[in-house]
Amino acid sequence: MSGPTPEERALVDRISADSLTTRRDYLRIVATVSGGLAVGSTLVSAGVLHRHGDGTAAPLKVADRLAPGEAVTFDYPGEDDRAMAIRLADGSLVGWSTVCTHLACGVLWRDNHAEQDGLYCPCHEGVFNARTGEVTSGPPPRPLPKVLVVEDEQGAVWAIGTARSGESEEAGLCRGLRERDPALAERAGCGRRS
Ligand code: FES
Repeated sequence: MSGPTPEERALVDRISADSLTTRRDYLRIVATVSGGLAVGSTLVSAGVLHRHGDGTAAPLKVADRLAPGEAVTFDYPGEDDRAMAIRLADGSLVGWSTVCTHLACGVLWRDNHAEQDGLYCPCHEGVFNARTGEVTSGPPPRPLPKVLVVEDEQGAVWAIGTARSGESEEAGLCRGLRERDPALAERAGCGRRS
């Protein structure tokens, strides 16, 4: 993969100077996401942007470490938006809203179950695939909305955005960025990409 262009570097510098995260944390996250999500570095840089007081979700550190089979719950992107990050048995990291798409009960992680039935809603026995968020049984009509989670170089886990049911990670990052800063979204290529 070729390195960033001077324009991209300038954009990264501008963003990092304005971010709530420290510059070191920021750069670690960008490096990790660039590899992990395989989307353009400028877009990803923009995706972790947070401007003071804009009311939208900043990157949120949700765990210092997450071992295989472990999960952590948190609220993201808003204070009332229940979510969960899970380290699956193969080491991959996934994040989901835990608001059931049936009648909004809380979805639970069952680490002693196979990933296809790892997420369980006790209200009406809805079951979701922990890797894909898809419904595998019960009444929920839609998959769980995705919470984009990444790991930094120290192993800490961060929530950096959301993707609606059926929306790609890249489209979700672009949507969040457009809500925060339309001009920057344009410069990051979101207008062309989605
Ligand atoms: S609220 Fe989750 S299955 Fe009904």
